[in-house]
Amino acid sequence: MCTQSILVINGPNLCLLGKREPGIYGKLTLADIEKMVRLECDALGFECAFMTSNHEGEIIDALHAAPFKYAGVVLNAGALTHYSIALRDAIVAVDIPCVEVHISNVHAREDFRRVSVIAPVCAGTISGFGAYSYVLGVQALKNIIG
Ligand code: DQA
Repeated sequence: MCTQSILVINGPNLCLLGKREPGIYGKLTLADIEKMVRLECDALGFECAFMTSNHEGEIIDALHAAPFKYAGVVLNAGALTHYSIALRDAIVAVDIPCVEVHISNVHAREDFRRVSVIAPVCAGTISGFGAYSYVLGVQALKNIIG
C-alpha cells in the first residue's frame, strides 16, 4: 500500500510561536511543533509536508494544489479563521478533508475568536490543547482517511 501524505498549513503570525504571547500560545516554536507532527505522522504511517505563510493567497494556492499530492490537510489558519471567506471557499473547492486546529482555546478568548468562518466546511475543529492540538489534528485525519 502506498504511504499517504498530508499537508499541515500554518497561517499568519504562527511563524512567531515561541516568542509570540507565550502565556497564550506556549513556548514551543513552530519548528518544535513540526517535530511533534512528524513523529506522530511516522507513528501513523503518514508522510507529511509542513508549510507556513503570512499570506492568505499563498495559503489558498497551497489548498488548491493539495489534492494533487495530499490526502488531507491540518490547518491552523490563525486569524484568517475568523474572517476569510476566500479561505472557506478554497476549503470547499478542494475535495480532501481539512481539520481545523488551534493552539489556544478560541472559545475562552475574545468574542471575535468564537466565530470560525471555516469551521462549517472543515471535517472538525480541535482547539485549546496547545501544540498537542496539531497531534490530535493528525490523528483525526488518520481516522477520516485511514
Ligand atoms: C490561533 C487562534 C487565532 O484566533 C489567532 O488569531 C492565531 C492563533 C491558535 O492557534 O490558537 O493566530 O489560530
